[in-house]
Amino acid sequence: MLRQLCIATKNPGKVAEFKEMLGKLPIELHELSEFGDIPEPEETGKTFSQNARMKAQYYAKATNMPCVADDSGLECEALNGAPGVLTARYSGENATDASNMEKLLSDMKFCIRRNCRFRCVLAVSLPEGKILNEVDGFCEGLLLHDKLGDGGFGYDPIFWSKELHMGFGEATQEEKNSVSHRAKAIRRLVQIWKRRR
Ligand code: IMP
Repeated sequence: MLRQLCIATKNPGKVAEFKEMLGKLPIELHELSEFGDIPEPEETGKTFSQNARMKAQYYAKATNMPCVADDSGLECEALNGAPGVLTARYSGENATDASNMEKLLSDMKFCIRRNCRFRCVLAVSLPEGKILNEVDGFCEGLLLHDKLGDGGFGYDPIFWSKELHMGFGEATQEEKNSVSHRAKAIRRLVQIWKRRR
């Protein structure tokens, strides 16, 4: 198992989820903020996998430390998988969580089919660019018609989890971690590491 790992995301919500789930392992965890102001790479990949690998390799090189990066997003059945890899920039260049949710609610306004899923791909890279692991995780739900609760981050307030039977915006961090796409991917990673020990 790795001795050190940097959680390569600037999203505080994701950092909290990673720390909670990797905290019990005998790995020294680091955050990007310890390495100065590393500019974010452009996410040019056409798939979650391409973006996750690219981010892990980019940050591992910049920090000179093994890095885990994720690429995640929301896929709506009625929109043929959109917003997909464009989830973070769904409402344009200067998108915010609020503007993204507003656009998605508007695009789905007259849709009866509300099935959607969060998807996450995690990649772990060494500083020289070798990808050690790639895993994914899914979380099935329904797109709400309005915001419900204000917990979590990103699209959480408009996502209703089929597993929790509640909105992610109402769930505690612990409840979300029991079913979330990222949590499932992280658990897979931990299983792989434990098997190889
Ligand atoms: P990225 O993976 O940082 O490129 O961003 C993915 C997009 O999906 C962002 O708009 C996030 O806010 C959103 N997203 C990813 N995971 C979650 C989640 O667990 N809850 C809510 N939104 C999420």
